[in-house]
Amino acid sequence: MRRRVMAGNWKMYKTIAATSAFIEGLKARVASVDHCEVVVAPPFTALRAAAEAARGSKIRIAAQDLHWDREGAHTGDVSAGMLAEAGATHVIIGHSERRRDHGETDEVVNRKLRAALTGGLTPIVCVGETLAEREAGATRQVLDRQFERGFAGLTSSEFSHIIIAYEPVWAIGTGRTATPEMAAESHRYLRELGRRGFGETEAEGLRILYGGSVKPDNIGGLMSENEIDGALVGGASLDVESFAAIVNYPRARSAG
Ligand code: PGA
Repeated sequence: MRRRVMAGNWKMYKTIAATSAFIEGLKARVASVDHCEVVVAPPFTALRAAAEAARGSKIRIAAQDLHWDREGAHTGDVSAGMLAEAGATHVIIGHSERRRDHGETDEVVNRKLRAALTGGLTPIVCVGETLAEREAGATRQVLDRQFERGFAGLTSSEFSHIIIAYEPVWAIGTGRTATPEMAAESHRYLRELGRRGFGETEAEGLRILYGGSVKPDNIGGLMSENEIDGALVGGASLDVESFAAIVNYPRARSAG
């Protein structure tokens, strides 16, 4: 059975002090959690503080981006090795805000993904369609393209280390969540692409998180879908009570 992942993406929020306080608070609230992995992605500046505060707990720390080179003349960028040294074990790649703000293409995502794998970080790769693409009936075509180009050239063994986050762009920060059925349909399709590209075992083991306006009051419905292996949470991960409520979503069907 796939182990679920609840990940908080803080985007450009929180100081170092606020990060330490949050992680301390979260530690107490997730101490007995073993039904899922808990990941928090602070900004670069707070990674080290987050990792230090999380030491000895189950909380894992993710960066929100990386550069594909190991080192070099890339002003403003950070490499996989630097992130690992700061205490990150995971890294978000290809978030739609990076695609929008920094012109990241699927080819760039692919290079970053390889660098993350080489550097021993677990990549959380974001895919998803815009509203115009969904309304034009092009959701599958978009996922096809993002999948094919983003994951080009990976071996099945590399693919088995990846987490995908399906984040329909129209649902991010809008309060407009995809219904559990809509999300599950795209997740099923992504799993099918995984099966075709990398094999049955890899596809069955692939964790696909849903992201886009996940809140304490809609997480239960989303998690009732077997296809949805967790959540990538933006706004609602900034408040410790709200993120802890998401991590501890009501579970009827499983104890772990
Ligand atoms: P949101 O963001 O939960 O605020 O919609 C999700 C994300 O961008 O990962």
